[in-house]
Amino acid sequence: MSEHTEIKKQMIVDSEKKLLPPALSLFSLEGKTAIVTGASSGLGREIAIGFAMAGANVMLVARREEKLRELAEELKDFPVAWCKADVSETEDVKAMVEATVERFGRIDVLVNDAGTSHRGAIKDYPDELYDQIIKANMRSCWLCQKYVGIQMLKQGDGGSIINIGSGAGHDGKKESVHYCASKGGMLMLSRGAAIEWANEGIRVNIVMPGQFKTPLLHKCISIDPDYVEKVLPRIPIHRFGEPQEIVGICIYLASDSSSFMTGGVIYLDGGGNAQ
Ligand SMILES: NC(=O)c1ccc[n+]([C@@H]2O[C@H](COP(=O)([O-])OP(=O)(O)OC[C@H]3O[C@@H](n4cnc5c(N)ncnc54)[C@H](OP(=O)(O)O)[C@@H]3O)[C@@H](O)[C@H]2O)c1
Repeated sequence: MSEHTEIKKQMIVDSEKKLLPPALSLFSLEGKTAIVTGASSGLGREIAIGFAMAGANVMLVARREEKLRELAEELKDFPVAWCKADVSETEDVKAMVEATVERFGRIDVLVNDAGTSHRGAIKDYPDELYDQIIKANMRSCWLCQKYVGIQMLKQGDGGSIINIGSGAGHDGKKESVHYCASKGGMLMLSRGAAIEWANEGIRVNIVMPGQFKTPLLHKCISIDPDYVEKVLPRIPIHRFGEPQEIVGICIYLASDSSSFMTGGVIYLDGGGNAQ
C-alpha cells in the first residue's frame, strides 16, 4: 500500500469518528487549545467562534469582561473559557498564559488580534497617543508571542501563532502613520519569530486584512463621513469584508493542514487597496 493510500485510509477512519468529510478533517482543531485576544469584538470574536466550531478549546481574552462573559454564554456548549487581560501589560499576559494552562493544560494556538487605531494627521497627532497605539498593537503582540512561545517551548511539540496585522502595515496609509508603524512592526515580529522558532516547530504567520465591517471601521466612518465613498472605489472587489470572512484562513493556519507554512504573510483584502 502506498504512503498516500495509508494517509487517505487514516483520514477516512478519523472522519467517520468525527462525522466529517475526509477533506474537512484536515482542518479540525479537535484536541487543540487556542488563545484568541481581542475576542470581545469584531474579527477576534468571529475567530473565537470559528475555532470553537472547529473543535478547539478556546480562551477568550480582552479587557471588557461583560462582552467576554456574553460570548462565553453564547458558546456554553463548547469548551470555552474567558480571561480579562490588557495584553499590552506584561503581568496580565503572564496571568493569561497561566489561566489557560490551568484550565486546559496546554496552549497550541495563539491569535494576536487585539488592536486599535485612532486616525489623525502627523502634525497634530499627540505623542502620547502614538505611544498608546504602538503599545496596544505592537507591544501586545511581542508580549503574547513571547510568553505563549515560552509555554510552547516548554511543551516541546510546537504550536501555531497567528498575528493579525493590516494591509496598512505594508502599504502605508495617510492619517494612520502610527497605526501603519505598529502593524509594520507586527510583520517583523512575525517574520523574525518564525525564523527563530522554526526548528522548535512553532509556526508564526501573519494575516493582513483589508477593510472589514467591524466597530474599528465604524470608528473611521464616524470620524470621516466621506470615508466609505473615498475607500470603496479603491477596493477591487468593491465591498468591505464581512467579519466571518477571516475565519477560514485562521482555521487553516491553526490546523495541521498548514504544517509547512511559517513566516507567511497572507493578504485578505478583496484585491488590495488600488490607488
Ligand atoms: N476591521 C478592519 O478593517 C481591520 C483591518 C485591518 C486590520 N485590523 C486589525 O484586526 C484586529 C481586530 O480589529 P477589529 O476591526 O475587530 O476591531 P474591534 O472590533 O475594535 O476589536 C478590537 C479588539 O481588541 C481588543 N483590545 C484592544 N486593545 C486591547 C488590549 N490592550 N488588551 C486586550 N484587548 C484589547 C478589544 O477588546 P476590549 O476593548 O474589550 O479590550 C477588541 O476585542 C486589530 O488588530 C486591527 O488592527 C482590522
